[in-house]
Amino acid sequence: MEGLRTVLDPEIGRSIVDLKMVRDIAIDDGRVNVKIALTVAHCPLAKTLQTDVENAVRKIEGVRSVKVETTTMTRKELEELKAMMHAGASPAAFQKSSSAVGPGIERLGKRGVRNIIAVMSGKGGVGKSFVTSMLASELRRRGYEVGVLDADLTGPSIAKVFGVTGKPYKGPSGGIMPIKTKTGIKVMSINLILEDPNMPVVWRGPIVNSVIRQLYWDVDWGDLHYLLVDLPPGTSDAPLTVFQSLPLDGVIIVSSPQDLASMIVTKAVNMAKKMNGPILGLVENMSYLDCPHCGKRIGLFGQPRGKNLAQGLGLPFLGAIPLDPIIAQMSDEGRIEDYSSPIITTIADELRIRATKQVEQLPHNLPIAWSVEPTP
Ligand SMILES: Nc1ncnc2c1ncn2[C@@H]1O[C@H](COP(=O)(O)OP(=O)(O)OP(=O)(O)O)[C@@H](O)[C@H]1O
Ligand SMILES: [Mg+2]
Repeated sequence: MEGLRTVLDPEIGRSIVDLKMVRDIAIDDGRVNVKIALTVAHCPLAKTLQTDVENAVRKIEGVRSVKVETTTMTRKELEELKAMMHAGASPAAFQKSSSAVGPGIERLGKRGVRNIIAVMSGKGGVGKSFVTSMLASELRRRGYEVGVLDADLTGPSIAKVFGVTGKPYKGPSGGIMPIKTKTGIKVMSINLILEDPNMPVVWRGPIVNSVIRQLYWDVDWGDLHYLLVDLPPGTSDAPLTVFQSLPLDGVIIVSSPQDLASMIVTKAVNMAKKMNGPILGLVENMSYLDCPHCGKRIGLFGQPRGKNLAQGLGLPFLGAIPLDPIIAQMSDEGRIEDYSSPIITTIADELRIRATKQVEQLPHNLPIAWSVEPTP
């Protein structure tokens, strides 16, 4: 049972032991039989789970062979699981049962959030916050429930680009209610909480770590199709916390053509790979400028090379976004939701295809509201 504690349900992102999915364990002279109860019959990810269980048991000393059988949870068991997930358990209670991913660090659970996607870059100012807010707006336009977690504590810009100013408050569930933008995107940022948003955040690593965990776990995100996490640049404490503490489903890498010989992007990519963050693809921002007078395409920061870079790193290329003065203007005015362009639509589509494969495969009787279709 201890050996199985590290196995996470691929959908829910929590240990199968905590989710009470482990039914029988029979051990006979090194031959182990394990029975796992799936949340739904013919769960598309059953094979993944079976392999994970097999691998975990094989690691145990003395094990000679492993057989994994599956069964399905009863309606009553599903109801109990659903109640447990929605009650969410207090962070303290949860931490006891979450999976360990490093010394003293526990990965938090999923609750009602379907896809958690972090947006990262090697260096600053390449447009992570812009890409995060644009994708959030585009996905929202398609009717999805979307949230944005601003994990950039020292340079928070998400509240600003969406033009939200309200103070988050404690909701009926006891969780902090995120602030909604005008199109209904749920936003949480340290700047919404600070008494004076102009005061700098000067915190050491352990505090940054715990605040980011709170911005995710203590917030009542409700049921979301997508939670986009805007990271600060580079590979410092905050991205590390996000990789270690949040049950990420994917990472988007943003680069710009002036990134130093792609070395800095490669660092970010390698961090994501090392931390087991599945990379959904690379977006090149500020790729080029179309001259408003003569229409000539100008490579302000050198020739666009996102596609080659992505190929070289073995990543899908999601698209190249040009420099557009309207973007800076709309970000400054807090009207990013009003901006749209064909390239952004394409990138959002790419993201949707890559990130929601599992949503589309999910049967509709899932115990949690993940299979809900977007409402227009
Ligand atoms: N394609 C673009 N065209 C014009 N302006 C852009 C574009 N992308 C981003 N900007 C502007 O460039 C500035 C930096 O972008 P942004 O804040 O998104 O970068 P970032 O990578 O999040 O920065 P940081 O590393 O500081 O968090 C912002 O003022 C933004 O409005
Ligand atoms: Mg930013």
